[in-house]
Amino acid sequence: MDQPPFTWRGTPVSRRALLAGAGAVAAFLAVDLGAVAYANNWMGGRFTRQAIIDRFQALSGVHPGFRRNHAKGVAVSGRFESTGAAAELTVATVLAAGVSPVVGRFSLGGGNPTVADTPGAVRGFGVAIGFPGRDQWRSAMINLPVFPVNSPEAFYDQLLASAPDPATGKPDPAAMAAFLAKYPASKAATAVIKQHPPTPGFADSPFGGLNTFHFVDDSGVRTPVRWMLVPRQQARPPAATGPNGLFDALIQQVKAGPVAWDLRVVVGTDQDPVDPTLPWPADRRAVTAGTLVLDTIETESPGNARDLNFDPLALPHGMEPSDDPILGARSAVYAESYRLRTGEPKSPSAVQVDEVAS
Ligand code: HEM
Repeated sequence: MDQPPFTWRGTPVSRRALLAGAGAVAAFLAVDLGAVAYANNWMGGRFTRQAIIDRFQALSGVHPGFRRNHAKGVAVSGRFESTGAAAELTVATVLAAGVSPVVGRFSLGGGNPTVADTPGAVRGFGVAIGFPGRDQWRSAMINLPVFPVNSPEAFYDQLLASAPDPATGKPDPAAMAAFLAKYPASKAATAVIKQHPPTPGFADSPFGGLNTFHFVDDSGVRTPVRWMLVPRQQARPPAATGPNGLFDALIQQVKAGPVAWDLRVVVGTDQDPVDPTLPWPADRRAVTAGTLVLDTIETESPGNARDLNFDPLALPHGMEPSDDPILGARSAVYAESYRLRTGEPKSPSAVQVDEVAS
């Protein structure tokens, strides 16, 4: 039965209606925002979106129908219970007090959709909060404290340096050392990342947006912000064997009951760095904007988060990007990955929710 779990401005809305709408908007965004980024000639030179897509494919192979990065994943849904505490900073409807529907996707970094789970692989969480359209907020976050690079060029060079050496099957340490020598900001970020080892599972991972954005209030005042999700539970230990240990533990946990994260909005100043390799001072004020509650987990399939583009520039009225060049690059590359995968034949996801015992 498709129970109406949400009431939106007085009207009950079913989850099925929400997902149908989300798919339609995803298609719209892939075309529209990609076109804007193209027009802005966001990278130029050899760092085009196609060059980055080619680099992902050279690293991981071509897997039709799958994302070119964060290819392995599982779809989730639930709700966001906004406290209204961030409404002082932004007119965004999803951050006014109230409840909004949520569609999301947990993933592992990298372009291989059947890669075996490892504790050190970057964990991703893409989320769309609110109904599709002008009021919806999308964000793709990862479990790192800072991003390892601060430009599209460095991102490209990092992909090059992480290519496996045919002799060992592992990245060439000399190539990685040369990359870090060329990009001191990445060297410093790597040291910060090492101080934050990964938690045991998805359910106890923090997830950070890492890029800087601006919240805009009803007087037009723009405040620099960063956001993160802080877990409210411990994770079930991942299975010791099998390729999907991290995903299977998450599936079991969500089947047993909802999992939740608090959304913390860190309030910056105009002096704080936009550069995502740099943490903000630890004493910055943070507001708990609400709690994200996930109660449903599904194998990737038509109409769920599989078919969304978690474009970081899909922002609602009241939120704006900073001038971090990573944001435009992400938007353009995600659009191209989305365009490719939606036009290709599909294969089943490696993570099959029904195959995991409760
Ligand atoms: C220049 C920098 C970056 C590039 C080129 C890049 C590239 C990509 C691509 C091609 C995808 C697949 C998109 C799709 O088909 O829908 C993707 C997904 C993703 N990226 Fe990035 N990315 C970048 C930076 C970041 C940053 C800074 C974060 C987090 C703070 C991030 C988090 C994610 C997540 C969580 C997903 C999976 C979202 C989903 O489930 O659809 N990425 N990225």
